[in-house]
This record gives sequence, structure tokens and C-alpha cells, in this order.
Amino acid sequence: MKILLLAVIFFAYESGARVIEDDCNEIAVHNINHEKEQLLHIRNSPYQLAIDYNTNVLFFSFSNEKGSTLLNSAYLNLKTGEYFVIKDVKGGFANAVDHKTNTVYLGGSNGIYKFNYDTKKSEHLDGTAHNIWQLFYKDNLYYTTYPDENLYLFKDGKYEKVPELSDTRVLLAAIDNNNNIYFSNSSGLYVHKRVKNYDSFLGDYNLNSFASDINGNLYFSTPTDIYYIDGQNIERLASMDNIYGMAIENDGSILIADYENIFRLKPSKKQC
Ligand SMILES: *[C@@H]1O[C@H](CO)[C@@H](O)[C@H](O)[C@H]1NC(C)=O
Repeated sequence: MKILLLAVIFFAYESGARVIEDDCNEIAVHNINHEKEQLLHIRNSPYQLAIDYNTNVLFFSFSNEKGSTLLNSAYLNLKTGEYFVIKDVKGGFANAVDHKTNTVYLGGSNGIYKFNYDTKKSEHLDGTAHNIWQLFYKDNLYYTTYPDENLYLFKDGKYEKVPELSDTRVLLAAIDNNNNIYFSNSSGLYVHKRVKNYDSFLGDYNLNSFASDINGNLYFSTPTDIYYIDGQNIERLASMDNIYGMAIENDGSILIADYENIFRLKPSKKQC
């Protein structure tokens, strides 16, 4: 089911793609040319990227075999290049990191796991057996579920629906530094302002990921663009084809996954 929905999300808008990529294959970010530095060639849709800033390891998920429904989480060590497929998470799909306690959470079709770097094993956490669509960590662990599209908070081995959004569909969610909840469903992107307790519509973006940088600033991607969220303002950073997800490194560099690659956007001096 997830694969099917992904296919819909990713390919529905392809025909409308705007491409700023020019002849010499450069990508403009804030009008500065960038080139793609390939980090990993991986078929089958690397998705839901999350960086552990303590270890410099990038977690993501992908569909393991073409046309199969097998989903796995995996990681790529951005320093050493080590690539590892995490096979003990059932239907591994979602990834998030608590940078304070250095805890890596992985979400699968039967709940949430903690990943142990030393043993390379994942431990299922008691308390939830939901089919996890997305994980997001901000002071607490949040997750969304599929197919019911609800947003939950997971704490002390217990889950509860985030009460402010208990009546609305949430497929992807991210919390900003002011505790506002940005979320998307098939109608587009919204923000729930905690102080004023209402949802406001930010646009009919077709989101496939949220990302946060080391300072808690938020970004998101659609199949054709990446954006920075500045309160109520959405700023488009770059456009390209077939985006599946994004992440921001320690130093602010942008990582992007497309259908078969994970790459870094590197400022370039090339004149195009
Ligand atoms: C998405 O969320 C908004 C805001 O809560 C809501 O008005 C809208 O009906 C939701 N869309 C769907 C398809 O449920």
C-alpha cells in the first residue's frame, strides 16, 4: 500500500515539472550555481532522509527490489561512505534522530524501533504497533500513521493523538522552534499555530518530505522543488526532477534524494 501511494505522490505531478537545470547540469540555489556530488547510487526511491548530526550518518528508507513491496531502512555514513541496510525493522520506512540523547528511531509497519550503532541491531519499542508513515523528533517523538493519517506523540512507552490535530488528516508533520506544527495531507500544507490554536493553509504543495537543519529550521520537498519555511512564508530554494526527499547537513549543505541517487548540492564556480 505504501509503495502504491508513493507512486501516486511522486508521479502525479511529474508532467508539471519546472526545471532550472541547464546545459551544464547545474542547479541554481538562491541564484548560485550548484553541482550534484553523488554520494550513493541506489535504485528505488531513497525516501525520508534524516541525519544524525553526532555521528554524521544519514538514515533513509527505500524499496528494496524493483516492483516489490519490500521496504527497508538503511544508512550511509557521510564521513566514511559506509552503507548498511537495516533488515531487522519490519517494513522500515521512517527515520528520526534525537540529537540530545543521540538516539536513532526507525519506524516500520509494526511500530517504532531504536537503532544501536554498535550491534547494528534494532530494538522494537513497546507501546505502539502502528503502521508508521513518518517520524519526526522535536523535544519529543512524533509519528504519523498510514492509512488513517493521524499524528501521534510517543512518550514513556505510550502514544496519544496530538489533540489539536486529532480530527484532521496528517500524513507528514514537523515542529518548528516555536512549537508550531507544520503538516501536510492531500489538500496541501498547513501550519497549526499553538498559541492561537488554529490551522492556516500555506498552499497546495504536494509534499513528500519535511527536513530540519541543526538549528531546527524547517524545509520541505515536493517531487519538483525544495523549499525553506520562514514562518508563514515559503521560499523556493531550487527545482529539479524526481525529488524523493531531502536533508540538511551540519554545515547547511543540502542533500537530495532522487529516484536512484543521493547527492549533495555543492556550490560551483562554473559559468554556465
Ligand atoms: C487537511 O487538513 C486541513 C486542515 O486541518 C483540513 O481542512 C483538510 O480537510 C484536510 N484534508 C483532507 C483531505 O482531509
